[in-house]
Amino acid sequence: MLDATTLLFIFIIIIYILLRYSTEKKIFPGPKHFINLPNYFFDIVLKISNKNLRNNLLKVFFPESFRYIELTVPLASQYYTSKYGDIVQVNLFNQPTIIISNPDFADYILRRNGKNYTLRFGNSLGLEYLGMKNKGIIWNRNIQRWKYQRLNFFQKALNNKLLDDAKYISNDATDYILKYLEKYEIQINIIDIMDFLRSITFTITCHLFLGLPIGTISIEKTKYYVNSIVEYFKAWEYFLLKPTQFYDENETNKHQKSIKQLNDVVNEILSKRDMNNNCLFINSLLNALNNQQITKEEMNQCILEMLIAGTDTSSVTMFYFLLALSDRNELEEKLLKELKDNSYQTLTNGLKESMRFKPVGPVIMRCAINDDIYNNIQIKKETNIIVNLVDMHRKNEYFLLGNQFNLINVEDKDLSNTNNEKNVFLPFGIGPKECVGRWLAKIEMEIIIEKLILNYSFKRANGTKTLEELQTRWDIAQQPTHPGYMLIQKR
Ligand code: HEM
Repeated sequence: MLDATTLLFIFIIIIYILLRYSTEKKIFPGPKHFINLPNYFFDIVLKISNKNLRNNLLKVFFPESFRYIELTVPLASQYYTSKYGDIVQVNLFNQPTIIISNPDFADYILRRNGKNYTLRFGNSLGLEYLGMKNKGIIWNRNIQRWKYQRLNFFQKALNNKLLDDAKYISNDATDYILKYLEKYEIQINIIDIMDFLRSITFTITCHLFLGLPIGTISIEKTKYYVNSIVEYFKAWEYFLLKPTQFYDENETNKHQKSIKQLNDVVNEILSKRDMNNNCLFINSLLNALNNQQITKEEMNQCILEMLIAGTDTSSVTMFYFLLALSDRNELEEKLLKELKDNSYQTLTNGLKESMRFKPVGPVIMRCAINDDIYNNIQIKKETNIIVNLVDMHRKNEYFLLGNQFNLINVEDKDLSNTNNEKNVFLPFGIGPKECVGRWLAKIEMEIIIEKLILNYSFKRANGTKTLEELQTRWDIAQQPTHPGYMLIQKR
């Protein structure tokens, strides 16, 4: 026989469960938990100093947050997408988080109602360490300051004149770095292709935006600066999301040093610039500083962000394309023939396909500024949004051979993202917070690859894997885990 206390206990549990389910609001599909601890338990668990106990409790009661701490954002997102479909809602660090690879929903968030999602989410202290808190444009969570800096410095500078200049600057920058090819050699004719390509895009960025004519920065310095950018990316990944309780002292110190190093690089570059330059980006920033419209910290962060955004993305994409070519003789022959005839279809599609197959930005992270509704389901203010580009770009309904690198996948896909609600191909994002450098990226990548392919052949070397087998780390950026080595030979 059950005693009165047990009966009362069972009664309370039943009432609790009934109440919970009867009041539950309509939400997107996603993991359900039998026990939903109130959010403040999350903060209590985080405070537990015993690491094992803390992790085990998180694993049981806040499994999604634990997965995002353990894995990277794109990997954890992919896990939930593959389990629950193209719209998933999880609870991440006490915040509802929607993972989207549904093209209509992605378009709604990024473009149709894009104004409501011009913020990104991240750990506040982490952003402060990075110098991104309320500064610059990439992760600035002060909407007014983001808009002001994006419009007046980034968008203003990236005008048609700059895009025209970019054509010959990209050509000259490639020539400049090629002159010092041996500096990228690890063995005779075998080069570290990633460093080589990064040096080209870095040289272009410095010329177009910072008033540093090609040749002003020595190759040794270029390599040092490029390396500082790569190290900043690592710090970015480390600090962006995880709660501070998960910081490791040594790691934190190491990444802080990398952040300082890149900030020092910015100051060094500033001091080297040609005072008579007519670069709109740097000159507008300096004018705004003189007129006290921005602070020195804001200015430096804008420069730093131009360096990180402008250098790595295009060079990694070009590396993926060169890798694809090195194992596809027919494609390489076709490209070569077309380029000799001044025809650019294979070049354009090859770069598009590289961005589809391995998008350098595997996810787009955003955050709702105000309450919103999609398909009659409420999206509360401050809901995190993760657009899973990797998954969206592989959907067989939209891409004929989604899981293969094949130019047929992108022949009918446009980079200009018209007002089509089924924008399935979004390597640069779309809407008010889309990539500001998309047209520059297209121009510089086409000029650099054209020049390289017409004059050199590239083959994988020293254990560098094929594009399909290549291990990449999915984080803020999808980058190769190991250096890429290629045999480069004059045609
Ligand atoms: C292949 C080359 C590139 C790819 C694939 C790429 C991709 C992206 C993506 C996916 C975003 C996030 C968009 C969103 O949230 O909707 C982004 C943002 C951004 N990109 Fe690019 N990008 C490339 C090249 C460049 C270049 C060359 C520059 C600079 C000249 C640049 C500057 C930026 C900046 C400043 C942002 C942040 C914009 C904001 O948050 O307001 N990107 N890019």
